Amino acid sequence: MNDALIASLLRAVEAAPDDHALRLHLAEQLDGAGRSAEALSHVSIVLQQEPGNASALGMLGAISASMAATMAPQAPVAPAADAAPAGNQQNDTPPGYDWEAGSKELGSSLPAPFIEGRVPLHSDAGSDVPEAPIENPAGPGVTLDDVGGLQAVKDRLHESFLAPMRNAAIAKAFGKSLRGGLLLYGPPGCGKTFLARAVAGELKANFMSVTITDVVDSYIGETEKRLKAIFDQARKNAPTVLFIDEIDAIGIRRGSLTGSGAWMRQMVNQLLIEMDSLAGNNDGLYVLGATNHPWDLDEALLRPGRLDRTLLVTPPDAPARESILRYHLKNRPIAGIALEWIAAQTDGFSGADLEHVCTTAAEKAMMQSIERNEVLPLDMGHIRTALAEIKASTLPWLESARNVVRFSNQHGRYDDLSEYLVSQNML
Ligand SMILES: Nc1ncnc2c1ncn2[C@@H]1O[C@H](COP(=O)(O)OP(=O)(O)OP(=O)(O)O)[C@@H](O)[C@H]1O
Ligand SMILES: [Mg+2]
Repeated sequence: MNDALIASLLRAVEAAPDDHALRLHLAEQLDGAGRSAEALSHVSIVLQQEPGNASALGMLGAISASMAATMAPQAPVAPAADAAPAGNQQNDTPPGYDWEAGSKELGSSLPAPFIEGRVPLHSDAGSDVPEAPIENPAGPGVTLDDVGGLQAVKDRLHESFLAPMRNAAIAKAFGKSLRGGLLLYGPPGCGKTFLARAVAGELKANFMSVTITDVVDSYIGETEKRLKAIFDQARKNAPTVLFIDEIDAIGIRRGSLTGSGAWMRQMVNQLLIEMDSLAGNNDGLYVLGATNHPWDLDEALLRPGRLDRTLLVTPPDAPARESILRYHLKNRPIAGIALEWIAAQTDGFSGADLEHVCTTAAEKAMMQSIERNEVLPLDMGHIRTALAEIKASTLPWLESARNVVRFSNQHGRYDDLSEYLVSQNML
């Protein structure tokens, strides 16, 4: 009976991959049916997309407890195919259209879409460690020039590791060794992951990217081994930038973990050990983290030598919005698009919101084209209709962040956030 329920839930999740409550319900049923490894993979998918999801975090602990209780670990299950978050892949192109023609209007110097490859992890940590998938962004990718705005953040990335890595001899002469870490934080959809992809595009082979799904393993004790193996590989290929996306899912505040979350405590401990320059030779290893909840991170992660610098990735300003819009319209047939006007109307919109405006407008143009049986280009009418449907999404994050600045900024860690809120008349 449970099998039938699980089968229908699986179908429902396939149809609505972003419905987190539904996916967690499925995970609960799977765990109840003894299919803990599958349950874990679904919980991991939710955490990858929404690291602060309290129910998912609770379930992670419960599942690990039930696994520990049975002491009969199952084979780890690869994350479902729909695990990849709806990102900047532009594969929503309806068949049969000459989308290329449309891009001429915005010029041909636009960046090519990012293509991800995956390489296996070769580790010294022992042959029993499963190969963790590491994104290898070699190949055509975005570069920092493709990231709209965020000049201060780009400058900092340049100083921290891009310039020293490119000019190793000069850096050495000035006693600058590559080590330590930097935490990118900010509202959702404003380009943290996109920035990291751009860094990957700049560095190619010296860049590794991981998320919680690459780290968590259903075998007891394997999660720590995986983390160690990932760091070992990064050290072996030094100089390396190791990007940990949604790092609050891995480096969660230990005080918030209850009894059944003991294994997560081990994961955080291992992360601290690996990041600690005293524990191993971390010269040539730079850790770049990203989160939209830096205040949920374990405090020890932010100590000197670890992620000791934090950088705010702000919502895009008007010129940045223009360049983001240009990026997302480049493969679509367009006519008479006034980018500057759209940018002026979209204060508070994140990069993801702007992408949503472009895809919604494209859908409207497509439906009209289907009705008329001829290709009508996307125009300002479609953009206006899309704008009427989509609201800026950065405000709730900025409002909740305001309390952090007011009550928990004793170390000055969030000074850039404070400055930004003042500039927006929000503080
Ligand atoms: N500054 C930018 N320049 C160009 N495109 C951007 C920029 N910011 C965001 N985008 C677009 O918005 C999409 C979403 O951004 P991204 O995934 O990097 O956000 P994020 O900050 O990592 O969000 P989250 O906190 O939810 O993980 C990107 O894929 C990209 O297409
Ligand atoms: Mg992200």
